Order: sequence, then C-alpha cells, then structure tokens
Amino acid sequence: MRSKIVAGNWKMNNSAKESKALIKNLKKSVKGLPLNNTRVIVAPSFVYLQKIAKKTAGTPIEVAAQNMNDAPKGAYTGEVSGEMLKSIHVNTVILGHSERREYYYETDTILKKKVLSALDQNFEIIFCFGEVLEDRKSNKHFDVVKSQIVNALFDLTSDDWENIILAYEPVWAIGTGETASPEQAQEMHAFVRDLIATKYDQHLAEHTSILYGGSVKPANAEEIFSKEDVDGGLIGGASLNADDFTAIVKAI
Ligand code: PGA
Repeated sequence: MRSKIVAGNWKMNNSAKESKALIKNLKKSVKGLPLNNTRVIVAPSFVYLQKIAKKTAGTPIEVAAQNMNDAPKGAYTGEVSGEMLKSIHVNTVILGHSERREYYYETDTILKKKVLSALDQNFEIIFCFGEVLEDRKSNKHFDVVKSQIVNALFDLTSDDWENIILAYEPVWAIGTGETASPEQAQEMHAFVRDLIATKYDQHLAEHTSILYGGSVKPANAEEIFSKEDVDGGLIGGASLNADDFTAIVKAI
C-alpha cells in the first residue's frame, strides 16, 4: 500500500529561534497522534537542517532538504551537495519545486541530472511538477505535466521509482490562497497515475504516492485528501504554524 504523506516546506522562512519554537511545538502536537500509515516530513532551510534532524530523531517527524546540487563536491559557491546532506543523516530531498524552476531556471534537463544524482546517493525524492495559469487556461495542463514527468523521470527503472514521491503543485495555487478544487487535483493525480501505469505497470502506479500542494489549509485539507488519488500534501505557508500543520496531518 502506498504511504500517506504530509510534508511541510518551510522555504526561506524562520529565524533560528522561530525554527526551534516551531519544531518544539510540532513535536508536542504530533506526539501521540494515531499516524497509522501517514508520514510527517518537514523541510527547513539548510541552515537549520542538522539541528532539526537531531531534534526529531526518534520522533515520527522526518526531515527533508529543499534542494541539492547534482555534483558530489567541488567549486560550486553557495551550493549544497548530497554528500553533505547524507553526512547529517538527511535522506529525503525536494526537487523540481516551481520556485526553483521559475527563479533559478531549473529546466527538465537540470532536474533530470539532480534526480539521477540523488538516486545514485540513495535519496528519496519528493518531485514537484505543475502547470502555470496560462497552461490551464489554454487547456495545456495535461501536456505540460506529462512533459515535466516524462523528461525528468521516465528514464528511471522501476526500482528507482521506489524512491520517488510525486507532488502535483499547480503554480497558480502556490501561495496565492487559491486552491485547485478537489476534483481538479483528483483529475490530474489520476492522469499522472495512468501515465505511470502505461509507461511502467499498474503495480508501480498504485504504489507511488502523489501529493497535492498549493494553498492547503486546515479548512480545505480534508476535502482534498478525501480524493482517491491524493495521497497527502506538500504544505508551504500553513506548515509554518504548528497548529495548522498538525490540523492538516489530522485531516488525512
Ligand atoms: P503553499 O505552498 O502551501 O504556501 O501554497 C505550497 C508549496 O509551494 O509547496
């Protein structure tokens, strides 16, 4: 059975003090929850990752990095390698977030390199994809999503896919307060699952977790998560508040 996952992407937010308080509150509120098959992940800034990994060791909260470089080491000023992340026991990385695609020009080709490097180093990857508003308005959203997935992920083996979590994040819904309707999310998730079944097989498709991201809040989480092919969420803004994030975890 595929896992349910609620992941919090803290992005470039929080001071050291705020991060410490957030993780402390989150540990308290997540403790004792009947999580069953649900994984809870937080992705703080690199600056706090080691501390937060230590603070959450032995708790149900896992940590992920928000990005990594595809090179193992070297003269890449300002970058962080997979080796560095592994050395502080971080084993999950978010790749392909629309903010990386838009502001740092990460193309499908760059993302494919990152994916291969991360898999080579035994990372689990939360791979994000999603269309911009113009794509949806011109009815190109399925084509855009298909090409993002095919270009970065369809040369992988079935074994590689055991370490892939997908996150559908329509760009027009990220940080805008506008959410895709549960039906729009379900429609895209089912489309993506079908793509995987066609390229690989039904078993792999059924075992791949597909998260939804884009303005998920305590008020709308339950309805989105109730959809058959929505296996959880990648949460931005609402993950910065322990009560909100916990409410979203509870909604699954
Ligand atoms: P949001 O961000 O929840 O603030 O819309 C989601 C994301 O970018 O992962």
